[in-house]
Amino acid sequence: MLHAVEIKPDIYWVGVIDWNERNFHGYTTDRGSTYNAYLIKDEKLTLIDTCKPGFEDELIERLEDVCDPTKIDILISNHVEQDHSGSIPRIMELCPNALLVTGAPHGLSGLKAHYGDGYNYHPVKTGDELSIGKRTLSFVQTTMVHWPDNMVTYSASDKLLFSNDAFGQHFASSKRFDDEEDLPEILAQAKKYYANIVMPYAKNVAKALEAVAPLDIDIIAPAHGIIWRSHKDEILSRYRRWSSMETEEYALIVYDSMWHTTEAMALQIADAFMESGIPVRLFDLKVNHISDIMTETLTAKYLAVGSPTLNSGMLPTVAAFLCYLRGLTPKGRAGIVGIPFGSYGWAPLGPKKVAEELEACGYALPLGTLTHQWTEDEAGLDELHQTIREGIAKLRD
Ligand code: FEO
Repeated sequence: MLHAVEIKPDIYWVGVIDWNERNFHGYTTDRGSTYNAYLIKDEKLTLIDTCKPGFEDELIERLEDVCDPTKIDILISNHVEQDHSGSIPRIMELCPNALLVTGAPHGLSGLKAHYGDGYNYHPVKTGDELSIGKRTLSFVQTTMVHWPDNMVTYSASDKLLFSNDAFGQHFASSKRFDDEEDLPEILAQAKKYYANIVMPYAKNVAKALEAVAPLDIDIIAPAHGIIWRSHKDEILSRYRRWSSMETEEYALIVYDSMWHTTEAMALQIADAFMESGIPVRLFDLKVNHISDIMTETLTAKYLAVGSPTLNSGMLPTVAAFLCYLRGLTPKGRAGIVGIPFGSYGWAPLGPKKVAEELEACGYALPLGTLTHQWTEDEAGLDELHQTIREGIAKLRD
């Protein structure tokens, strides 16, 4: 028998642990994930969210540890994405008359599109309340954190916020609470999650933070990863900082190379930043995953991206990184500096296309596009080093 975990009196974590998830639609999840569902034992037996399809048996076994799932009165679906709603059909087979609570209009239309019309739907909007006995639950819609339908559920008497995707981490653990786990690791996973899932919706995140600010919160129970209990202020503060789109004096050098000239340029650029006292991280796209690099773009002011010319364009690895970056970079982000660079034989089209993509992502290109013809030579690399150092100095004036 799998066990439920009580997180507040009469409130249980009944989720599932996906220890072996390693790729969440293109985002590498080296530490797996969890799909958290929560059961409230009140006069109305209330389940908040379900789990990804394929894990239904684990969810039901944990429910059976603390209740008879056929007696569930209310199922609250905070988000239509299948990692949370995918087991609704199995749960509703057990309790077909349960009230299925979802956001209006997008939650309702989303659930109907996935699972049909045949349930006892109860659409809610921000400010709506639902009495389940001793407790009254309320709802706040958090549009685009991460889909149009997202909402959070709040229990005032427990000071508990069921936040769904917000504040989550793809992190499988035998522990449930932040003070039982390695905090720097959880915060790093939360940053990777933010950068790869909700970064484009920074303005919506800021609005959602405003909407939940008046709530008195003891515990934030997300739908992925660890529950925030002792460090909830830390994760709230980090979300405020990330959604402000502020950057730090920090440089990323991201490149791929054919015959090492673009790589030699990358090393010179990295060294010029180091000499200028700006911390650097350098990523060769042959050996680094784009979802890990994306985590760093969240706060880095400088992004140098290098590709040689291949077939009148850039290398496919660099194109994939820039495509991913374009989808995730929030609109209206100010003060980010791009440095396109790369080598070429007879036409500098690779670095030129990198420059176009960086501009499309909202990066200013005050140093222009830095190119090097054929193989590296000491004089050319020294000149590049000096160009970067002088450019940084001007930008910092
Ligand atoms: Fe965890 Fe947007 O689903």
